[in-house]
Amino acid sequence: MERTTPVIPAEDVRRQREYCAELRARNAVLPAPPTAWVDTYGCQQNEADSELIRGMLADMGYAITDSEEGADVIVINTCAIREHAEQRVFGNLGALVHGKRKNPHQIICVCGCMAQEEHVAERIRQSYRHVDLVFGPQALWKFPELLRRVYLRRGRVFDRDESAGAIAEGLPVRRSGSVKAWVSIMYGCNNFCTYCIVPYVRGRERSREPEVILSEIRELAEQGYKDITLLGQNVNSYGKDLGEDVDFPALLERANAIPGDFLLRFMTSHPKDAGERLFDAMRDCEKVAPVIHLPFQSGNSRVLAAMNRRYTREQYLDKVRALRARIPDVVLTSDVIVGFPGETEEEFEDTLSLIREVRFDALFTFIFSPRKGTPAAEMPDPVSRAEKQAWFDRLVEEQNRISLEKHQAYIGKTLRCLIDGEGEDPRNNLSARTAGNRLVHLSGDKSLIGQFRDVRITGCSTWALFGELA
Ligand code: SAH
Ligand code: SF4
Ligand code: F3S
Repeated sequence: MERTTPVIPAEDVRRQREYCAELRARNAVLPAPPTAWVDTYGCQQNEADSELIRGMLADMGYAITDSEEGADVIVINTCAIREHAEQRVFGNLGALVHGKRKNPHQIICVCGCMAQEEHVAERIRQSYRHVDLVFGPQALWKFPELLRRVYLRRGRVFDRDESAGAIAEGLPVRRSGSVKAWVSIMYGCNNFCTYCIVPYVRGRERSREPEVILSEIRELAEQGYKDITLLGQNVNSYGKDLGEDVDFPALLERANAIPGDFLLRFMTSHPKDAGERLFDAMRDCEKVAPVIHLPFQSGNSRVLAAMNRRYTREQYLDKVRALRARIPDVVLTSDVIVGFPGETEEEFEDTLSLIREVRFDALFTFIFSPRKGTPAAEMPDPVSRAEKQAWFDRLVEEQNRISLEKHQAYIGKTLRCLIDGEGEDPRNNLSARTAGNRLVHLSGDKSLIGQFRDVRITGCSTWALFGELA
């Protein structure tokens, strides 16, 4: 095996920390610390990136706020996965013009996956002139340098790093919670599913060193984090680029050996690379939660081939069987796309039959959204939006029935749950998660947040469980 992981030299990262110090000195002479607000769209990968952005901003002497009101720096971390996600960003970006009129010194930054799309960067350049800085995910590590350039030049800065991306270690992080934490184990994607924009905006697959990941997990466990999720677009490709004898199941085993009372989760798994070694590791590692998100996308093998998913319906079902043979009550969730170009009603029926056969605990359902630059966006797509919507509604209805039945089976059981935060409903002031990551509403003292407790399940809805402390 040959090592191919590109790494940003430590001295280049150190230079970023020097820029942070320079901006911190500049901010320190102001009567009050300037404020910064980071708004995040998209997946957990983006949430994790935003924690790095906040870490860098804090290092530059900004006070991090949770509202755009009067913020001196605004960072919008965007998602390009579907048209709807992009429209929301453009809408909210447009609205920021009013705040900037009141506070002309405000700096507005757009980063994340949309910023890496050439046509988006161009549209911002032309039509969103209140935006000062645009940079893609591969340029994230040099945010301090880019922000400094905005200050020094008093002009707009665009940095769409066209490289395949690299690993940068040693950036400061500011985590959003104290119970749950994200740990990116790899970046990018090599799979090029024909509908998906991610490989174009996130660069090639590259893995962080196992030692770096393990020491981050060790530190989190020591700090009292109880729920640690390992992140990557396809965690099952982990390590392929490292030129060492380490793969994802091996990483899980090593993480499992770290002392402490915490749960390990991971996402996402591509079915083509999820196999018996992974399922064995999940069964054998007591800290690894009995839950897997295994997107199937379609229940029809012709559509799967057109999507370039590299597995068939039968192979997917075989994997589910192999998994359940080892962990009978594993919680299984998935993603599915309705209305892929050329999908027929009969092929859609195969998706319906697959969800009836597998009975997922929860499903994330999407209508195909053409993404500029992907092969699927060029494929003939004769089915109308209304018809796709009707298929989608049937799918959601079927899944809601299954989710409800699955939740009903929990009633009367007592489960060890992690109390992870406050609830939104005053009657159920706490929220918790089962080991399988099902949401539980319950009431109790706030001091329980961050603790594992036995919870008796007393009721449910399609989306959540209700319980009481046992
Ligand atoms: N890396 C993950 C998926 C990330 S995107 C994986 O491979 O499992 C999350 C989900 O968005 C995908 O699983 C897919 O169901 C959906 N998705 C991606 N591109 C889409 C598109 N162009 N239109 C509709 N849904 C899409
Ligand atoms: Fe997109 Fe496929 Fe990569 Fe997932 S595996 S990010 S769906 S290209
Ligand atoms: Fe969106 Fe980028 Fe994640 S496109 S789903 S934020 S990898």
